[in-house]
Amino acid sequence: MAQQATRIAPSILSADFSILGEEVRKIDAAGADYIHIDVMDGHFVPNLTFGAPVVKSLRRHTNKVFDVHLMIAPVDPLIEDFVKAGADIITAHVEAGPHLHRTLQAIKAQGVKCGVSLNPHTPIDAIKHVMDLVDLILIMTVNPGFGGQSFIPLFDKIKAARQMIDATGRQIDLQVDGGVNPQTAKQCVEAGADLLVAGTAVFKDGPDKYAENIAALKG
Ligand code: DX5
Ligand code: ZN
Repeated sequence: MAQQATRIAPSILSADFSILGEEVRKIDAAGADYIHIDVMDGHFVPNLTFGAPVVKSLRRHTNKVFDVHLMIAPVDPLIEDFVKAGADIITAHVEAGPHLHRTLQAIKAQGVKCGVSLNPHTPIDAIKHVMDLVDLILIMTVNPGFGGQSFIPLFDKIKAARQMIDATGRQIDLQVDGGVNPQTAKQCVEAGADLLVAGTAVFKDGPDKYAENIAALKG
């Protein structure tokens, strides 16, 4: 289906981890559409964050959509844990294993929305044969692992993903993640994105600015 109104998914990777529940409540009140939760395993990506128990304890702090971005390999053994913890969307990486189709089927079988993510180097054609399974496509515009990196301008890829989504006639979110700020957000939306992840650009300058920062990303 056609591009939807721009929505913002703040990434809690840039939040204060010592008061994560409070931070989630604050971005909820500041107008976050989804809560983007970056799970890293120190193996698929060179950084570690947290697992399902942390997601579970955050669940009581908000009713917003939990958009769980799994940067882990393998994916399949942990899907059920994240669903039980309260994930609404689970996104797996194309590069995380040899059996992407099976992984996406396993996510769908749990009754949650299913996302697929592509690292910057991965051609968009890699998801051509799984389009019927996905509810969200995540185009990484940094190499996953860290917040605060510079945006990689993959606008041709975002445009190609938009065309693939429109051709399905289904509602599929087109998400961009990495280096999104008010300038790059505008360019991503022009290329066809309708769901923007932002860590640094939301959490900079502290809680008093969260609402202003989210509004600035919506343009
Ligand atoms: C990177 C993560 C992103 C990250 C974005 O691996 O997937 O969600 O938090 O951070 P910024 O917006 O600072 O680039
Ligand atoms: Zn992410």
